[in-house]
Amino acid sequence: MITLRQMSAPRWTAVFLLLAALCCLFVPAVTVKHENFKKCDQSGFCKRNRQFADDVSASSSWTSPYVLDPASITFEKGQLNAIVLKAVKEGEEKARLPLTVTFLDSGVARVTLDEEKRAKGEINLRHDSKARKERYNEAGKWALVGGLKVFEGAALNAEAEQGYTKVVYGKGGKHQAVIRHSPFGIEFQRDGETHVKFNERGFLNVEHWRAKIEKAKEEEKKEGEEEKKEEEKKEETQGEDESTWWEESFGGNTDSKPRGPEAVALDISFPGYEHVFGIPEHATRLSLKTTKGGDNAYDEPYRLYNADVFEYEMDSPMTLYGAIPFMQAHRKGSTVGVFWLNAAETWIDVTKKKNTANPLALGLKGHTDTQTHWMSESGLLDVFVFLGPTPQDLARQYGELTGYTAMPQSFAIAYHQCRWNYVTDEDVKDVDRRFDKFNIPYDVIWLDIEYTQEKKYFTWDPLTFVNPDKMQKQLAKRERKLVAIIDPHIKNTDNYPVIDELKKKDLAVKNKDGNQYEGWCWPGSSMWIDCFNPAAIDWWKGLFKYDSFKGTAPNTFIWNDMNEPSVFNGPETTMPKDNLHHGNWEHRDVHNINGMTFHNATYQAITERKKGELRRPFVLTRAFYSGSQRSAAMWTGDNLAEWAHLEASLPMVLNQGISGFPFAGADVGGFFGNPSKELLTRWYQAGIYYPFFRGHAHIDTRRREPYIAGAPYTEIITQALRLRYQLLPAWYTAFHEASTTGAPIVRPNFYVHPEDDNGFAVDDQLYIGSTGLLAKPVTKEGATSVSVYLADSQPYYDYFDYTTYHGAGHHTVPAPLEKIPLLMQGGHIIPRRDRPRRSSGLMKHDPFTLVVVLDKDGNADGTLYLDDGETFDYQQGAFIHRRFNFDGVRQVLTSTNLDTSSRTVKCEKYLKSMEKVRVEKIIIVGAPSAWKNKAEVTVMEEGRKESKRKQSFPLEYHAAEGKKAAWVVVRDPKAWIGRGWRIDFGDKAAGHEHHGHEH
Ligand code: NOJ
Repeated sequence: MITLRQMSAPRWTAVFLLLAALCCLFVPAVTVKHENFKKCDQSGFCKRNRQFADDVSASSSWTSPYVLDPASITFEKGQLNAIVLKAVKEGEEKARLPLTVTFLDSGVARVTLDEEKRAKGEINLRHDSKARKERYNEAGKWALVGGLKVFEGAALNAEAEQGYTKVVYGKGGKHQAVIRHSPFGIEFQRDGETHVKFNERGFLNVEHWRAKIEKAKEEEKKEGEEEKKEEEKKEETQGEDESTWWEESFGGNTDSKPRGPEAVALDISFPGYEHVFGIPEHATRLSLKTTKGGDNAYDEPYRLYNADVFEYEMDSPMTLYGAIPFMQAHRKGSTVGVFWLNAAETWIDVTKKKNTANPLALGLKGHTDTQTHWMSESGLLDVFVFLGPTPQDLARQYGELTGYTAMPQSFAIAYHQCRWNYVTDEDVKDVDRRFDKFNIPYDVIWLDIEYTQEKKYFTWDPLTFVNPDKMQKQLAKRERKLVAIIDPHIKNTDNYPVIDELKKKDLAVKNKDGNQYEGWCWPGSSMWIDCFNPAAIDWWKGLFKYDSFKGTAPNTFIWNDMNEPSVFNGPETTMPKDNLHHGNWEHRDVHNINGMTFHNATYQAITERKKGELRRPFVLTRAFYSGSQRSAAMWTGDNLAEWAHLEASLPMVLNQGISGFPFAGADVGGFFGNPSKELLTRWYQAGIYYPFFRGHAHIDTRRREPYIAGAPYTEIITQALRLRYQLLPAWYTAFHEASTTGAPIVRPNFYVHPEDDNGFAVDDQLYIGSTGLLAKPVTKEGATSVSVYLADSQPYYDYFDYTTYHGAGHHTVPAPLEKIPLLMQGGHIIPRRDRPRRSSGLMKHDPFTLVVVLDKDGNADGTLYLDDGETFDYQQGAFIHRRFNFDGVRQVLTSTNLDTSSRTVKCEKYLKSMEKVRVEKIIIVGAPSAWKNKAEVTVMEEGRKESKRKQSFPLEYHAAEGKKAAWVVVRDPKAWIGRGWRIDFGDKAAGHEHHGHEH
């Protein structure tokens, strides 16, 4: 026998090549296992409600059985309370559903419907269940952090006609809720026009509590099997299909459903709105397709049920890892939306109704209505209605309710290098060194599950991670960080203090019988921490203290994965719905929030690792819900190294942005499989535009760190990374905006140009913050150009060579492999840092370049936000926030202060630390030809000595060439980043004495 050692090199190579070729032939086609996940008709309540909607639509005589009892209405201090009665079986008492409609200061209205019997606990649970009897009413406790101030100015409209209650609300009385009593429904109007309708189609359905009629055993025996079924159906359901009321089985798991059927459902229509966006997470387009069949439509509703969907498919309404039940409808001149605050499994049908123009009504154009149907398995019906009118209003109002994006540390928006797994501490150090050797910037290296000892979190494998401290010291030398994974399943084994404590303190999720639930995940048998329990959060915090999780350091941060939760042997790879959480809420009620409670706990833990050490945490999560943006970043899970997945990542990331959770990205390179070098390169060129930018790969893939690909790929990828680093000041400013206004970090066309109806569905190009930078990543193999859609008549300039593109419509922009299609919209000032460094931490005191991109009238505007990038001092005024403006008429560039707060000690200290940081270069793109003969500009700066106040600096003029715009450069004008200054480009420069003093 020949051993490997004895094989000569060429033979060994030949064998290797043969094996590689065979592998290529036999790579199995990867695709999601549909049979593991429910379709609507396998999910009892979805099937029932969809059927109900179909029956209602088909009937001409049917009316909704929900009636608001006018005698029950009370209205006080911005809130309406009433009882909606649901007619049930003949002769039976109607179900009483307490209604509240709350009008908020922000102009948002909130509608909740509860069920009296359940709220009062007047129901019986089956199987001796210990579950709570009420409909779950704590979703708000986890999701909402503000915006609930009631608008006391809301008033009943005295002129309401019979059968209606009308409430005028919103600042200036612009909004009105028209509440129809019979059948119950609400229309929300803005300026007299209806924008959102509830129960227009009559699909409102609150499955009221009823007792299961158990047949006596004796009696049952007497009846023949068939006869019995027939009888039961007739007697108990009066025509309703109750087969999924009391028990449901799927994939070998049976849900005991102790409360029986309890779904809530409602149709919500947006009249005159053709586009709806939002409700992530799905691998689909930004403008949501319809879901009831037909051309280019899905035939399943969008599903929100956080799940570990292995090898998920493209272009699908299937559920994924996270859920944000926030939808917005958009048309020219108006954006409105709804937030369906429910944490249970939810399905949403979307249909569109075309209304053709009426030839007799002159001037009335045809329009399309979007109709949606929301169905949740349990919980309250709790919906917020937003009336806009702009996408920016929605972002702000939704952010006010669920919280804005946490301001990350600056390293967190730089490049992250991950794979499953870096196998030893030496391996990590080696990768770190190679990045340096190849002069490739990166900030964070990641450790996946293999760093632990046998998947026991908070331990290190003693054989492979021998010296984590030393490893981190090497990283820290270049200001780099480490992220280690910690999942919510805790290995159920001996000699592991973490599981012992979890059990002893009784902090794990319980099964339906109230015993600690045990399931299967990476470590084998495991238990799950129940972060709905405050005691569990406290305990969790303790585990991250440096003396508890030994080997971690201040530059260690955390990745929370598998928190849907993923349970390998559970129904649909997650927990049984009848499991019990803290307070005896069923898992069914809280499923979609579960992941958020976990990453929130980790966030808190990171803030408390050491007394007095106040650094902004970084936590990455896979599962999420509304509110996750307050404490985590997310990524789109296990994608594939395929072009289609690269393409899908853009609408997915854009959708996250407009849905309030913009710190988002996809695995660069694709998680499963090996990308071609071209795909990997293109993915990096796209990945630099993800707010969260991380390369990651499955354990079975080949190594693919940027330095591996070789010429020309490594060089091209490095250029892409450098572009991200160069623009970090612009990204950081965009994060700041997200953290204060809810604005997305990368923005789709409709958000930036809400009046341009041709561009509402555009989702393959993006704007970075408010910078006017417009990127169109290449997502097609072999492409050498891209078609960029321009929405307006501003000039757009190529970022690299200032080629000008003019005019609304599509433009072909060259994109050979080495070129990243990136344009600058006229009218912006973009802050950059041009010095290549090894990590963002090393750039903190680097000088700035300002790129002034003139609009068609010769003006430009921009902002810069800066702080220490690390601590919470910015909350006490330690930041720099500047506005740069180029005034085309006066031909002056100014820097003014946007910080209106008074100067704190922390602020002074920070400004002092930035005192020497200057603008080292100013580039003006689209420079007027009159500057051709201009030799210098005058710079005036606040705070300088009188004699030095005014100084002149040379100006370099570069004439226009072909389609390339003229541009000028001013080098090192001695303008400090933290101060006010003014640079005069005009003829009368010397004559101007006035300058922008401030503070
Ligand atoms: C699943 C995650 O999605 C993936 O990114 C990770 O590498 C594996 N779990 C292993 O932890």
